[in-house]
Amino acid sequence: MNHFEYRDGVLHCEGVSLAAIAAAAGTPAYVYSSATLERHYDVFKQALAPRDALVAFAVKANANLAVIATLAARGAGADTVSQGEIQRALRAGVPANRIIFSGVGKTAEELAFALKAGVYQINVESIAEMEMLSAVAASLNAQAPLAIRVNPDVGAGGHEKISTGGGATKFGVSAELALSLYARAHADPHLSPKGLAVHIGSQIRDLAPLEAAFRFMRGLTEKLRSDGLPIERLDLGGGLGVPYFNEPDPPSPAEYAAMINRVMDGLDIKLAFEPGRMIAGNAGVLLSRVIRIQARPRPILVLDAGLNDLIRPAMYEAFHDIKPVRETSAPQAAVDVVGPICETGDIFARNRTLAPLKPGDLAAFMTAGAYGAVMASTYNARELIAEVLVRGDRFEIVRRRWTVEEQMALETIPDWA
Ligand code: LLP
Repeated sequence: MNHFEYRDGVLHCEGVSLAAIAAAAGTPAYVYSSATLERHYDVFKQALAPRDALVAFAVKANANLAVIATLAARGAGADTVSQGEIQRALRAGVPANRIIFSGVGKTAEELAFALKAGVYQINVESIAEMEMLSAVAASLNAQAPLAIRVNPDVGAGGHEKISTGGGATKFGVSAELALSLYARAHADPHLSPKGLAVHIGSQIRDLAPLEAAFRFMRGLTEKLRSDGLPIERLDLGGGLGVPYFNEPDPPSPAEYAAMINRVMDGLDIKLAFEPGRMIAGNAGVLLSRVIRIQARPRPILVLDAGLNDLIRPAMYEAFHDIKPVRETSAPQAAVDVVGPICETGDIFARNRTLAPLKPGDLAAFMTAGAYGAVMASTYNARELIAEVLVRGDRFEIVRRRWTVEEQMALETIPDWA
């Protein structure tokens, strides 16, 4: 469910025409719907309502302050993977006690920052990290609230590059090691083990691997308790897929919640979730304009958006539906859709059947609200793409373009160069 639809023949985001946004903000630009963000958060939260779970939006999916603030106003927490993401979550109004700090490469400085901020929990991924956390907490005379991230050896996800739960990835520790680390943390005056965490992949379209991983986590929880170790939280990660148009719909939040309730039935534990894509994916589009058409046996549409603006097709062979902003009944034809970047991989779609588009026309890449703007770069000396947030009949440019002049202002030419 999202709030992008045609009204009087023009694709709208809520009450605003994408043509009007292109005129005001220029292209390429990301456009987000507040109503869709809120709806996705609410549906997820309500499905899990009986458990009063912490729903911590995975900021890596969309780190725009206005997007985080929209969710924070609904009560969302934040799942973060760097000091920068913690700073963004705090600035957007997420209370520190709803912030989870994850990731394999946290530095001592970042751990200290998180402890001083008073985050809800730090998800520890290795022995070495736990030792560093203990030392940092000792130096601050603090007690670090932590969860141990377990690698349940169940891989899942829409692409090999976004599967994290397999035993061979860099994420988490084995169950055996998690149990011994937990006991060690319990005995450490500067560590306060609260629970266990798991996340097995992203764009997961099948509940079975998630259910297997969560049953495994329940088993570990019961084992810790039978060993006399208190555990009050389970962080079950993110990963629920979204429909990208060319594939069957993934399980709904209601089906996901029913599975959680089945697996966790009768277990007294506070749950946390870290959904990213499920909340932001369908809440955003990438708005782009056709620059020209190269006549080949199969026409090539050259857009003003490139892989630097949306890298998912080049990086994960991801499919994004492409819609003309002006609806047309003219016959569709097969085209290739590419960007202006000097890379063969800068291709969004090959042999895609699309409504006819001519130079100057606008097109929208659907389901681009997650892992879109956050992965954008200035490659080929391009401006960093703008972001726009819509609410009802209003919209605002919530990140203006970062111009090449501004980028160059950070650089110097040494006098010996
Ligand atoms: N928690 C942890 C520990 C994660 O590693 C991730 C995503 C999430 C939560 C959020 O997962 P989600 O609910 O969004 O599936 N750039 C890739 C996706 C990378 C996901 C990395 N981890 C893409 O564009 O598909």
